[in-house]
Amino acid sequence: MFIAWFNGLSNRSLVITILICMSLIYVSYTFNSCLLTSINRSFKRNASRQLLISTNLLEVVANVTIAPYSNNNNNSFINTNSLIGVHIVPLSSTNSTNNSATTISSSSSSSNNSTSINSITTISAHVLEAFAKYRLLRQPGSRPSRHLPDTLIIGVKKSGTRALLEFIRLHPDVRAAGCEVHFFDRHYQRGLHWYRHHMPYTIEGQITMEKTPSYFVTKDVPHRVHKMNASTKLLVVVRDPVTRAISDYTQAASKKSDMKHFEELAFVNGSYAVVDTNWGPVKIGVYARYLEKWLQYFPLSQLLFISGERLIMDPAYEIGRVQDFLGLKRVVTEKHFYFNATKGFPCLLKSEARSTPHCLGKTKGRNHPHIDIAAIERLREFYRPFNSRFYQMTGINFAWP
Ligand SMILES: *[C@@H]1O[C@H](CO)[C@@H](O)[C@H](O)[C@H]1NC(C)=O
Ligand SMILES: *[C@@H]1O[C@H](CO)[C@@H](O)[C@H](O)[C@H]1NC(C)=O
Ligand SMILES: *[C@@H]1O[C@H](CO)[C@@H](O)[C@H](O)[C@H]1NC(C)=O
Ligand SMILES: *[C@@H]1O[C@H](CO)[C@@H](O)[C@H](O)[C@H]1NC(C)=O
Ligand SMILES: *[C@@H]1O[C@H](CO)[C@@H](O)[C@H](O)[C@H]1NC(C)=O
Ligand SMILES: *[C@@H]1O[C@H](CO)[C@@H](O)[C@H](O)[C@H]1NC(C)=O
Ligand SMILES: *[C@@H]1O[C@H](CO)[C@@H](O)[C@H](O)[C@H]1NC(C)=O
Ligand SMILES: *[C@@H]1O[C@H](CO)[C@@H](O)[C@H](O)[C@H]1NC(C)=O
Ligand SMILES: *[C@@H]1O[C@H](CO)[C@@H](O)[C@H](O)[C@H]1NC(C)=O
Repeated sequence: MFIAWFNGLSNRSLVITILICMSLIYVSYTFNSCLLTSINRSFKRNASRQLLISTNLLEVVANVTIAPYSNNNNNSFINTNSLIGVHIVPLSSTNSTNNSATTISSSSSSSNNSTSINSITTISAHVLEAFAKYRLLRQPGSRPSRHLPDTLIIGVKKSGTRALLEFIRLHPDVRAAGCEVHFFDRHYQRGLHWYRHHMPYTIEGQITMEKTPSYFVTKDVPHRVHKMNASTKLLVVVRDPVTRAISDYTQAASKKSDMKHFEELAFVNGSYAVVDTNWGPVKIGVYARYLEKWLQYFPLSQLLFISGERLIMDPAYEIGRVQDFLGLKRVVTEKHFYFNATKGFPCLLKSEARSTPHCLGKTKGRNHPHIDIAAIERLREFYRPFNSRFYQMTGINFAWP
């Protein structure tokens, strides 16, 4: 149906559609830097799946009336634009003070009073999730708004932060920004107003969450978070620093073809004598060092440490701890997970977003490079004192080898 519609277009309409599409993306991007990431991500999905999501979306969206919230018309709808992280702006600025300001039409393409959604169909799957929660938000009497985050997942990269976020956002009282906002490390000068704009809509009682794993290791971040709100709760997922470093390296190597071997980068001068602590993947694993900085600003009681290993082996247990820590009812339980032994990863049974099971670790299929066992042993030895220190500081023995 999609293709047929496409072929039926005249050349001129096609040009107009493309122009509209480009303008929309531009406008959206200026408001929401997450969009490009989303599009990028969804392009990577396989084509059939993409089409499936697109058509679903069309069906869902086709009947949604979008009314800009700021217009203050007496209307209990919330601004779905912002909710799904995509801003659909009527291009011909028709007077949109009426409730039915802009109706998204899925069939017409060239009329000036309807915006074609077809051009924006490559929105990633979290859009669907937004619609699921959108239902919740429409409860009468509640007026959704954006808030600065109450809780941050601050790290650590390649330890399972994405998994943690996916698991915890199954909870109806948790709403999270769709992607890594990088406010405290990259966009700090844009101000809190900008940051708030990147947060999802919440109603009273819902927690706003954001995840950017580089926060944990970026020098100025603890101070900045403290300045925003000293009561911010911080979640830290940690994993054996050696496997973490290898995973970090593998990800980098998959993007860069002429990457040196792990062993060459992790050590100085070609022997395993001296570990190169300036190399990012090694440096990040010295958790104790970064934690010290955070503890200068936050009491330990405001941080929760989650074992990345355990999060995979026993997600329900770790998510239970997280829910307790955040003062949430234990809604996400064993019932939400099953373990796929083939994949070695937990899968979500039927989340709000999808009616089919959905497994994590999609990108984990990269072939891990072979790494000299002697190099691994040497790294373990290197990390041991730092790990002990970290156990002491957190009061948790993570039992890394
Ligand atoms: C659109 O919504 C109206 C009421 O809001 C409903 O009656 C109608 O069936 C819906 N149409 C479709 C195609 O879902
Ligand atoms: C909104 O509508 C309700 C009834 O539907 C009415 O009582 C209320 O005064 C309206 N508010 C505004 C601001 O128009
Ligand atoms: C929109 O319509 C209202 C009346 O419904 C009018 O007062 C206002 O000037 C119009 N705005 C534009 C931009 O046309
Ligand atoms: C808003 O809609 C009402 C009917 O629903 C119509 O009478 C009125 O002219 C519309 N106003 C604008 C500004 O389009
Ligand atoms: C666009 O809108 C104007 C008035 O709002 C109307 O005269 C014109 O026919 C419309 N064009 C199309 C293609 O619908
Ligand atoms: C565009 O608006 C005009 C009136 O403003 C209406 O007659 C026409 O049906 C609309 N076109 C579409 C495709 O909705
Ligand atoms: C700081 O965070 C706490 C807990 O999330 C919240 O209750 C409080 O209102 C926040 N303070 C400000 C100034 O936002
Ligand atoms: C590495 O080797 C060079 C000479 O080959 C030497 O000058 C340098 O001090 C060595 N660096 C370390 C850290 O051992
Ligand atoms: C488990 O993972 C494998 C490999 O990705 C997949 O082929 C299989 O369908 C999965 N099984 C279930 C029950 O999800």
